[in-house]
Amino acid sequence: MESNSALQEIKDRLVKAKSVTVLTGAGISADSGVPTFRGADGLWKNYRAEELASPEAFERDPKLVWEWYNWRRELIATKSPNAAHIALVELEKQIDRFWLITQNVDGLHPAAGSKKLSEIHGNIWKVRCTDCGRVEGNHDVPIAILPHCTTCRGLLRPHIVWFGESLDSEDLRNCHEALRSCDLFLIIGTSGTVYPAASFGSVAKEQGAFVAELNLDPTPNSGLVDVTVQGRAKDLVPELLK
Ligand code: OAD
Repeated sequence: MESNSALQEIKDRLVKAKSVTVLTGAGISADSGVPTFRGADGLWKNYRAEELASPEAFERDPKLVWEWYNWRRELIATKSPNAAHIALVELEKQIDRFWLITQNVDGLHPAAGSKKLSEIHGNIWKVRCTDCGRVEGNHDVPIAILPHCTTCRGLLRPHIVWFGESLDSEDLRNCHEALRSCDLFLIIGTSGTVYPAASFGSVAKEQGAFVAELNLDPTPNSGLVDVTVQGRAKDLVPELLK
């Protein structure tokens, strides 16, 4: 389907939809200047995300992992939500039953004003004690390495779901309810390579939703969705509301 007619099809579906669920990935924040994980500028000191975002990497070298997160914190602290984040806040206001699932940990969706939101991979501005499990907000840029819990002095880690770890069970329940009940499922700016989010498109489709993808490049999801539109999130998402 040609891009304009695919976009028009999604707009028509949006007008009729009673329930809309959206999944976002790093591509939506790329337009705010946050590097994606698998893009050309996604490497830090030649490490891939998979080599640093794991419990094993943290156990082996917590200083290195915190240095990586400090690099990301410094970068993200200077960035603001873009037109795509803002358009999703507008959509949340317009649609009765709306849910936003994001894999992004940058906090740009809540910063834009999204409320009906699951940050399924956590948030870079939260830390968790590896001993007592206490979670707290922390906006230090840079954070002092190594950071320790103010309650029990245990080592703090980012409150982020790493490779090999499970999603929070309440988040997962909310996601599945949102996938089960939506008429329209929009997948925006994700490479569709990290599970379980990578399977959400097929889950929503099996449950009867119309599934659309907005992404700069083709992805493994492109073949299974009902329509796919290639382009930048900051251009395409606001266009849906016009
Ligand atoms: P990726 O870096 O894997 O993919 C980003 C996708 O966004 C790619 O398909 C790009 O083509 C697309 N893209 C880039 N710029 C875009 C733009 N301006 N508009 C629209 N699309 C654009 O990021 P994710 O799929 O989010 O996990 O990665 C999934 C998870 O892997 C992340 O949440 C992260 C990472 O390891 C954790 O942090 C735990």
